[in-house]
Amino acid sequence: MRILMVCLGNICRSPLAEGILKDKVKKAGLAWEVDSAGIGDWHTGELPDKRSISTARQYGIDITDQRARQIRKEDLLHFDLILAMDDSNLRQIQLLAKQVQNPKSQVEMILNYLTPGKNQSVPDPYYGGLDGFEKVFQMLDEATDKIVERVMSYEV
Ligand code: 4NP
Repeated sequence: MRILMVCLGNICRSPLAEGILKDKVKKAGLAWEVDSAGIGDWHTGELPDKRSISTARQYGIDITDQRARQIRKEDLLHFDLILAMDDSNLRQIQLLAKQVQNPKSQVEMILNYLTPGKNQSVPDPYYGGLDGFEKVFQMLDEATDKIVERVMSYEV
């Protein structure tokens, strides 16, 4: 299973999603590949936002090995599942998928694993305070629990 988490800048939400899911995958002994990317390239090569790093650290998750990168066409051929944090991210991924012959990735809103069919977005915490990052962490923690549950039930 190969999963790519996508947000706008790849410094706030998707690095948290990547870190949280990687932690669960490791603890469950699964051989999944988990990565993240941004729609934009403004932060390429940068560490996650300090607020994402500190929020993850509070839960014992180190995300300082991550560096931001932009999503690319090859991602649509490599990943089984690409998970968008919000509806704008989803549309951009779908536009990119149209430029790829036979894309293999299933593209979905991440919160649809928690609240199926509701197309809810993970709010962008970039312009707010630490509490926004905490809320994002909790949403992603719950959603990634469901992802592990759902994918494992497919695999058996
Ligand atoms: P993210 O948050 O998409 O969760 O990484 C953002 C980070 C940076 C910007 C926007 C959103 N920005 O405009 O630079």
